[in-house]
Amino acid sequence: MMKYQLAPSILAADAAHLLHDVEAAAAGGAAVLHIDVMDGHFVPNLSYGPHTVAALSGQTALPLDVHLMVEHPHTLLEAFLSAGANSVSIHAETGTPETLRPLLTCIQAGGARCAVAIKPLTPLTAVLPYLDLVDTVLLMTVEPGYGGQAFLPDSLPRIESLRTLLERSGRAVDLQIDGGVTLQNVSDCLRAGANVIVAGSAVFGAPDIRAAAAQFVSLF
Ligand code: DX5
Ligand code: ZN
Repeated sequence: MMKYQLAPSILAADAAHLLHDVEAAAAGGAAVLHIDVMDGHFVPNLSYGPHTVAALSGQTALPLDVHLMVEHPHTLLEAFLSAGANSVSIHAETGTPETLRPLLTCIQAGGARCAVAIKPLTPLTAVLPYLDLVDTVLLMTVEPGYGGQAFLPDSLPRIESLRTLLERSGRAVDLQIDGGVTLQNVSDCLRAGANVIVAGSAVFGAPDIRAAAAQFVSLF
């Protein structure tokens, strides 16, 4: 049975009142907390390090989902796992199956869930070498690097095609979407086959965070 989950992205949260915002999202039914890690190279922005994950892991019951938008994931993985990451996604564009499969295996060996992520212009076939291994495929629905961007219209047919690929793999792999998801477009995304919904500005940017999260969950 497919599990639908809301994963608010803290990139849109009020950094000065982070825990308050996280607790509001949790009270609204968020299932996972999405943490965007940016290195200024793979994407033209900087965000959080392992110390933020360590700080949150002691303060919230929400599992911490670390999205590594970094050029050299092998240099940072251990630090995020020991900081308390419960799931980690690595971008397929940062390596080859030979270099990335050992990292994904290392994530699982560390007791965390692993995911391969792809950017909007990357062919869906790029995930095929990982489908026997990963727990999740993260499909970017905006160009990575910033919150608050518009959902890319080509994403819906990509979600449908990816869901077909995942079903053909015969494994229960989660389809996570990330970027520009709102209360207006989420139902189309769910119908297309997504089951883990990252939402930043549509949750943490809402006047009432708890109510916004609850509205998302009510559509699942
Ligand atoms: C973008 C990040 C997303 C982003 C989502 O590179 O990976 O997680 O924070 O924010 P919204 O939902 O505002 O597009
Ligand atoms: Zn993200």
